[in-house]
Amino acid sequence: MKDLSLNADAEFHSSDIHEQHQELADAMTELRRTTDHGSDAEIAKALDEFVEFLSSYFLFHTFTEEKLMYDHHYPRDAYFAHVREHKEVILDLIEMQDGHPPRRLLKITATNPRERAHQLIEAFTGWIHSHIEQEDSKLLAFLEERGI
Ligand SMILES: [Fe+2]
Ligand SMILES: [Fe+2]
Repeated sequence: MKDLSLNADAEFHSSDIHEQHQELADAMTELRRTTDHGSDAEIAKALDEFVEFLSSYFLFHTFTEEKLMYDHHYPRDAYFAHVREHKEVILDLIEMQDGHPPRRLLKITATNPRERAHQLIEAFTGWIHSHIEQEDSKLLAFLEERGI
């Protein structure tokens, strides 16, 4: 298991961001596979595990990006716009872990596990694609220009 501690002394690079995006995509593919072929019980279990994984891994991922922005003096307005998007997802994940429907970016209303998994996959995939295309791409360009 990777060290996901939010260590203030950790040093990250743009390659870490790419690797973490891949890790998130792999976890989503795995959940999609179970959702397509598993029983309701298997899907419910996979869904709980995915939310658990996402709650720690997404937090670690956003910590990585936010620390890079902070350490390398990313422009303030761009920093706040980017961080705001991360926090909305984190608040949704906290609600899901507490057993409440998330109300911000991940709108999940279904009660049946298969439907819930579908809604989560669609919502998170849609969100992360547009976030990577907009905020993350700007950050990656900023870091790569500086050889970080
Ligand atoms: Fe981001
Ligand atoms: Fe990202």
